[in-house]
Amino acid sequence: MSDPEPPSDLADLDWVDEPVTLDRDACARFDRDGFVLLRDVLPAEKLARIGEEITALTLALNEEDRPLEERDTYDRAFLQVMNLWRHSERVKRFVFGRRLAGLAAELLGKDGVRLYHDQSLYKEPSGGITPAHADQYYWPLSSDRTVTAWIPLQPVPEEMGPLAFFAGSQHAELGRDLPISDESEATIRREMQAQGFPLVQSPFALGDVSFHAGWTFHLAGANQSDRPRSVMTMIYMDKDIRLAAPTNSFQENDRATWMPGARVGEVVDTPLNPILIDKG
Ligand code: SIN
Ligand code: NI
Repeated sequence: MSDPEPPSDLADLDWVDEPVTLDRDACARFDRDGFVLLRDVLPAEKLARIGEEITALTLALNEEDRPLEERDTYDRAFLQVMNLWRHSERVKRFVFGRRLAGLAAELLGKDGVRLYHDQSLYKEPSGGITPAHADQYYWPLSSDRTVTAWIPLQPVPEEMGPLAFFAGSQHAELGRDLPISDESEATIRREMQAQGFPLVQSPFALGDVSFHAGWTFHLAGANQSDRPRSVMTMIYMDKDIRLAAPTNSFQENDRATWMPGARVGEVVDTPLNPILIDKG
């Protein structure tokens, strides 16, 4: 008989549940711009420690082995691994943390949120651009009450590709039908300029976290440094959100993979979509 798995030591991660107060105008900015960048939300040293574990797990689980020059634009942007929480008790503790989930609920103006999925985005040294897109193109969900927390695991200066947002674009309809591609990059950039949505970009320090709504158009530059840009993300959704009928093959795949067993028209209440915070 094999030994049982040793219990993980989670006590040093208690900080992930400690609430923080939102700046008074953060919700208004989120409503107006479709994103907020919150400075110094997580303790840098502690984040660096769990960040190393997240990065190591990402590299261990990653299945991409083609050199950068053999990949298309999307696959050059980053290595991506989803639902790391299912592979490590410590990462699960981080992903389920109530501090960021609480901020997500507050920004969405909802009592509670569920996890859609987590996603590690590791932009390799010389990794390419993240083309302009809106995330919710991929998600068969009944409302726009979704938000992604983008959590760099080291500082992200300009040359490493910090996430950048087209402020106010969450209400723009054109470009919502485009998957991440060279075409989305060209079309959305052109449309955003034509419609007057400014691109807002700034470096991230370790501990800074941005939150962007599911329909906010965003992009990231290439990683021009010789260091990886490792980022963890958590996608949160209103706890009462329902499964919508998928409108493209990506949504069909998301439904089956990230919400298995959910039924169209019903609340997305599956074991993979736990409620992380509920103040209702
Ligand atoms: C990135 O990390 O470069 C992209 C993140 C996102 O599209 O949400
Ligand atoms: Ni995105």
